[in-house]
Amino acid sequence: TSDIKILALESSCDETSAAIVDNGKVLNNIIATQSVHGNYGGVVPELASRAHQQNIVPVVDQALKNAAIDKTSLSAIAFTRGPGLLGALLVGTSFAKSMALALNIPLIEVNHMQAHILAHFIDDPKPEFPFLCLTVSGGHTQIVLVKSYLDMEIVGETRDDAVGEAFDKSAKLLGLSYPGGPLIDKYAQLGDPHRFALPQTEMPGLEYSFSGIKTGILYFLRDELKKNENFIDENLNDICASIQHTLVEMLLQKLRKAARQFNIKNIALAGGVSANSGLRNGLNQMAEKEDWKVFVPAFEYCTDNAAMIGMAAHYKYLAGEFTTQEVSALPRMKF
Ligand code: KG4
Ligand code: ZN
Repeated sequence: TSDIKILALESSCDETSAAIVDNGKVLNNIIATQSVHGNYGGVVPELASRAHQQNIVPVVDQALKNAAIDKTSLSAIAFTRGPGLLGALLVGTSFAKSMALALNIPLIEVNHMQAHILAHFIDDPKPEFPFLCLTVSGGHTQIVLVKSYLDMEIVGETRDDAVGEAFDKSAKLLGLSYPGGPLIDKYAQLGDPHRFALPQTEMPGLEYSFSGIKTGILYFLRDELKKNENFIDENLNDICASIQHTLVEMLLQKLRKAARQFNIKNIALAGGVSANSGLRNGLNQMAEKEDWKVFVPAFEYCTDNAAMIGMAAHYKYLAGEFTTQEVSALPRMKF
């Protein structure tokens, strides 16, 4: 284990990414973002798969060149096995398997959600174990109890839509393009979060539900548009601020409940929605009241990327957790 050089691949959704992680240090993180989905209001699986096929060789080439590494000096190849879109995962999985076979080096499978959490160990400050991580993305909303690098337990989860999906679907109802989360965030910063009261779904324990809010917004907009057909244009900032406030409130209430229940004060945020300014502000305010220490990775490591896959693979390499050529993509992979 003197020099562990890992080439990591990520292809679970709509970013094709390759990274080199050298002894737990990220040397680079090459990401090809797919722009083809913008007009469809969401990621189109078939188009995603095709774009991964086009991008995978160039991103791997670039990662190796950028790090000035010859592929024969690699120690292992890592890839996202799941969860994600099957056709998208297949591209990274097949590529990783072929390359590991050709180079005759170990293969490491990585759980994408676990990797989002291990992104916290790319840069300082690093959270201390145990900590709670709120993982919020377009596909997931989870509160995870992180006991060590490879020992994690989901203690709370959404029963239906992910919070990123709730942002994106609300944005679509407002006529905004995909992904709508960042646009809602942008307009929300100019609006009044208390102008419109939107229905929140009460859920037991540490569970979330975000499908009700989408329906609530649909009916709310339909009723208002009947009275005034320019309702959205005239009130966009306040509508966005109210939607964002409601979603952030829902996220933070359960996070506080979990922190008190497990008596944990180290709190981390992961996933694409952690870029949200309302969530960051709300979390910081709550942290002051609750005496929490908060950890948020740099934005480039919050959204989908291969650097986090390489970090997870590094710890798996140290633990001797390798996989075989029999491995296949697992769209609904659990921890
Ligand atoms: O983690 P991620 O890049 O991909 C998934 O694994 O899903 O997360 C993407 C999600 C999208 O739903 C996007 O709208 C949301 O993150 N997002 C935001 C913001 N930036 C990205 N949502 C709200 N506010 C933002 N600033
Ligand atoms: Zn993700």
